[in-house]
Amino acid sequence: RSIHSAVSRSRSQLLRRGYATEPVPERKVAILGAAGGIGQPLSLLMKLNPLVSTLSLYDIAGTPGVAADVSHINSRSEVAGFAGEEELGKALEGADVVIIPAGVPRKPGMTRDDLFNINAGIVKSLATAISKYCPHALVNMISNPVNSTVPIAAEVFKKAGTYDEKRLFGVTTLDVVRAKTFYAGKARVPVADVNVPVIGGHAGVTILPLFSQATPSANLDADVIEALTRRTQDGGTEVVTAKAGKGSATLSMAYAGAIFADACLKGLNGVPDVVECSYVQSNIISELPFFASKVRIGKNGVEEILGLGTLSDFEQEGLEKLKSELKSSIEKGIKFASQ
Ligand code: NAI
Repeated sequence: RSIHSAVSRSRSQLLRRGYATEPVPERKVAILGAAGGIGQPLSLLMKLNPLVSTLSLYDIAGTPGVAADVSHINSRSEVAGFAGEEELGKALEGADVVIIPAGVPRKPGMTRDDLFNINAGIVKSLATAISKYCPHALVNMISNPVNSTVPIAAEVFKKAGTYDEKRLFGVTTLDVVRAKTFYAGKARVPVADVNVPVIGGHAGVTILPLFSQATPSANLDADVIEALTRRTQDGGTEVVTAKAGKGSATLSMAYAGAIFADACLKGLNGVPDVVECSYVQSNIISELPFFASKVRIGKNGVEEILGLGTLSDFEQEGLEKLKSELKSSIEKGIKFASQ
């Protein structure tokens, strides 16, 4: 009896402290581009995530310093830094989640598509390494133009024979984060309670927030909805302009990237009902092969693509308008990858 009560006492102590009785699985997360503007704060945020057991930081240079720095934080994960292509394999081996913020950001006056020439090549070579060293990882693509870099990675994986459409995600979480913040300001509701789905893609008009489905609901006028939609679509440009040549969103992007990677880890660990918006291979929403919408993430990656629900006339119009740009960005990526 005394043994029994001792065991149950220590179990309840554990539960009180917030520890699960099941051990948290070992999970390796690799960040490619970890020394960059997004990469550094993202490395910090992933170091704080208790679901991570190994944090692997890769960049062409500068990662030993970032790794040494965050490794002193007294949280669960072991941290290692890898610099230069010859170390990429070691950085990726055994990774469960690979986050890619590698490549150049926008300067004022540039569109995301202007980054294509440089970033497409970077993404192609990183995807080639992923297919070799960790073909089962969930890939979180942040590098722009996401509308094209996701199709590029898909083509590389197909060629290597490792493609699993459930495991490739374009990270559009920053659009959702922005939509939530801007909506809360106008609707005067607590921002922490707000949900807004954002669909389509991740550039200009292809970013389509569905404010008609926002919760808590608020009766906003049509012109307010229009302005909120435009501000969400131009949110990235707002930051690029304010930074005046020093790059694009890095801190809010790192936050958004950490939220999305956390959702992937939870899904892998079997947490039920993990739903986030993401740009994925999708054939139920439109005739386009890739589309952002709400997806349920589970042990195998994308477990379910959720439908769009009912759209307002304004959103329906936006949906029709975005298709041609999204289509050409997808085709551009596929064409590049097949060269
Ligand atoms: P940055 O220039 O500060 O950092 C990029 C990092 O990538 C650098 O450390 C660089 O050394 C590294 N890099 C370059 N080639 C590499 C390679 N072959 N392998 C590994 N690392 C490599 O740029 P920042 O601001 O961190 O942005 C990174 C990317 O994220 C850009 O393409 C940007 O457009 C994109 N982005 C995406 C957003 C989204 O919502 N999906 C939001 C904001 C930015």
